[in-house]
Amino acid sequence: MGDPHPTPPATAATSPKLRADALTRSFGRGAKALPALGPLDLSVAPGEFTCVVGPSGCGKSTLLRIAAGLLRPSSGELSIRTAASRPAAMIFQDYGIYDWKTVLANVRFGLDIQRVPRKEADARARDWLARMGLSDFAGAYPAALSGGMRQRVAIARALAVEPEILLMDEPFAALDAQLRTILQDELLDLTQTTRTTTLFITHSLEEAIVLGDRVLVMSARPGRIIAERRPPFGRPRTGTVRSAPEFTTLKSELWELLRGEVHREAVPA
Ligand SMILES: Nc1ncnc2c1ncn2[C@@H]1O[C@H](COP(=O)(O)OP(=O)(O)OP(=O)(O)O)[C@@H](O)[C@H]1O
Ligand SMILES: [Mg+2]
Repeated sequence: MGDPHPTPPATAATSPKLRADALTRSFGRGAKALPALGPLDLSVAPGEFTCVVGPSGCGKSTLLRIAAGLLRPSSGELSIRTAASRPAAMIFQDYGIYDWKTVLANVRFGLDIQRVPRKEADARARDWLARMGLSDFAGAYPAALSGGMRQRVAIARALAVEPEILLMDEPFAALDAQLRTILQDELLDLTQTTRTTTLFITHSLEEAIVLGDRVLVMSARPGRIIAERRPPFGRPRTGTVRSAPEFTTLKSELWELLRGEVHREAVPA
């Protein structure tokens, strides 16, 4: 007998770009092993912007590092589906830019790895520097930049490779409130135009609500997903959603969900 409700076949347009199944990660061995993450299941659809919030130390950066291929899971699986020529790009919580390379060379870095011809790579890197308001600093070294400028270099470097999946670990955390708002709005615009699949970690509930199609709340360590909310704003949206009444309601609801976990992290049972 056939299945009366067959599942439609997954196609490139619908099957997840990123998928985690029973993913866990511990650090250390034996009795001293520290469970940092999971078990965690996650599925991110093509073009979807997924935000993750959770208490400090719950395993958010660990999740992103596994997604970026920088760390292996202890058990379970995380798979990413991209065309070979279009990489996933990661923006680290601590910038991860190279102090011995100029700003331009930092932004060009991913393109050099992809063997994009020098002239084209230079042009694309300069274009992203201009968008980030850093044109005058192309020849400078990162030591000469402020924290916010360094972070913008890291963002330009990640976006210059036009990644299929963007992995962002608190990219705006070190920026002042005004610049943070401006870059949030730019990122909204950019990801809505390019439909770039994005996994975005933040401590800011406002940021998660403005940017996300979904906001996932993680538990205290070892981090698991304990709740999911969809901000009730359509696409394309703009930063004006910040003043919508639904925005404040959702922020309070997310904080209620998170509060217990933050407390549990600070005062373990
Ligand atoms: N390389 C490592 N070696 C040992 N322990 C680690 C390592 N990386 C992370 N941990 C531990 O794993 C847990 C999760 O760390 P992780 O950096 O993923 O947290 P996080 O959620 O990103 O925190 P934050 O919000 O403060 O950035 C922490 O207890 C941390 O001490
Ligand atoms: Mg982190």
